[in-house]
Amino acid sequence: MIEQDGVGEDGVWLNARLATMVPGADPYGSIEDGAVAVLNGRIAWVGPRSELPRDWRGAIQHDCGGGWLTPGFIDCHTHIVHAGCRAGEFEQRLNGASYEDIARAGGGILASVRATREASEEQLRIHSLHRLRRLLSEGVTTVEIKSGYGLDTETECKMLRVAAQLGEEAGVRVFRTFLGAHALPPEYAGRAEAYIDLICEEMLPRVAREKLADAVDAFCERIAFSPAQAQRLFERARELGLAVKLHADQLSDLGGGALAARAGALSADHLEYSSEKSLKAMAKAGTVAVLLPGAYYMLRETQLPPVELMRKHGVAMAVSTDCNPGTSPCVSLLLMLNMACTLFRLTPAEALAGVTRHAAAALGLQKVTGQIAPGLAADFALWDIGRPAQLAYALGANPCVGRVFGGRWLHD
Ligand code: NIG
Ligand code: FE
Repeated sequence: MIEQDGVGEDGVWLNARLATMVPGADPYGSIEDGAVAVLNGRIAWVGPRSELPRDWRGAIQHDCGGGWLTPGFIDCHTHIVHAGCRAGEFEQRLNGASYEDIARAGGGILASVRATREASEEQLRIHSLHRLRRLLSEGVTTVEIKSGYGLDTETECKMLRVAAQLGEEAGVRVFRTFLGAHALPPEYAGRAEAYIDLICEEMLPRVAREKLADAVDAFCERIAFSPAQAQRLFERARELGLAVKLHADQLSDLGGGALAARAGALSADHLEYSSEKSLKAMAKAGTVAVLLPGAYYMLRETQLPPVELMRKHGVAMAVSTDCNPGTSPCVSLLLMLNMACTLFRLTPAEALAGVTRHAAAALGLQKVTGQIAPGLAADFALWDIGRPAQLAYALGANPCVGRVFGGRWLHD
C-alpha cells in the first residue's frame, strides 16, 4: 500500500456535526456538536464536545465551521490509470452495438490496452493525475487503482508504478490491484490457458517480488476468463501472499460471487446477475459486494443487482465509481451515491456506508480507515451541508470544503 506521509499536527477538530459511520442505532453514527482529537495522524478520541477530556482543551483547534465531518471517502474500485478515450464506442453503443459486440471485434478493453501500451510512464501519470485530482476533490482519501490495460508484464508493471507515484503526489492512500486477467491480449488469441500460465509464472511472481500490488483481481465473464481460470489465478495469488477480488456476474451468472467467497476474496464487484446462493456464500465469507452504478447506467443495463437479497443475507455493500474509459468514465463518487440510491434503491445512509466503512472492508482496511473512531487514521471530509442525505441528493454539486488526510488539512 502506498501510504503518503499524511501526518499533520496533533489537535482537536471542533464545531462540527459528525457522521462517524460507526455502526449503531443511528445509521450515520451522528454526533451533534462533536469533537475529534488527533494524535500522530490517528484519531485518539471522538465524542460530544462537552465531554472532551481536559488534556485536549489546550491543543491546537481546527474549526469546522458547523459543517458535517464524515470519514474520508474511499473509492474501492477504479481503473483510473489508463490512456486513451473511448467516446467513439459510446457512439457505437448508442447506435445499437453492444459492449460484448465491441469487445469481440477487438475494441473495448483492448482499445485501451493499445493506448496504454503506447503511452510513456510520464504521459500515463499526467493523464491519470488529472482524473485523480477531480476524484479527490469530493473528499476521497483512499483510492483503489487496478492495472489491466497492459496485459503484458512490462505494461502491467508500468501501470502499477504510476499508481504508486500518484499516491505520493496527490495526498491519498493508494491500494493497488493487479488485473492482468482483464482480457485476453491479442498475442494470446485462442490461448487463454497459456496466458493464465504467463500470469501465474511470470507476472504475479514479479508483482509480488517488487511489491507492486496489494491484491489480485480477474474479470470472470464469458467474454473474459472462466471460473476455473480465475480460480487458478487466485490459488497462485494466495501462495504469493496477495489478497484477491473479482469482477463477478456483471453480464451473466457464472457463479462469480460464490467463487470469490470460496477464495476468501475481499470483494466481488458488479454482481448484477448474482444468484442467491452466491450471496449467501459471500455473507458467510465476509466478502463485500461492490456495487458499480456508473457501469450499470452507461451500459443501459436493466438487470438490477440483487440488493434486497444482499440486505436479507447481511452482505456488506460498498459503492464505487469503477472509473474506466469504457463502461464508467466517471470521477465523481458523489454522483455514484446518488445513482446507488435512485437506480439501486440504497438508502442515503447505506450509500454513505458504501463509500466509507464498507469500502474500507472491500480493501481489507477496516482497521485503518472508513469510520471516525479511535485508533483509525484521521482521514476526514468536511462538507457544507445541512444533513448527510444531501451528499446523495444533489446532482453535480460538490459541497466538499476540504479533506483531512492523516490529520493534515488538504484544501484541493
Ligand atoms: O469494471 N468489467 C470489466 N472491466 C471494466 C470495464 C473495462 C473497460 O471496458 O475498459 C468494468 O466495468
Ligand atoms: Fe472494473
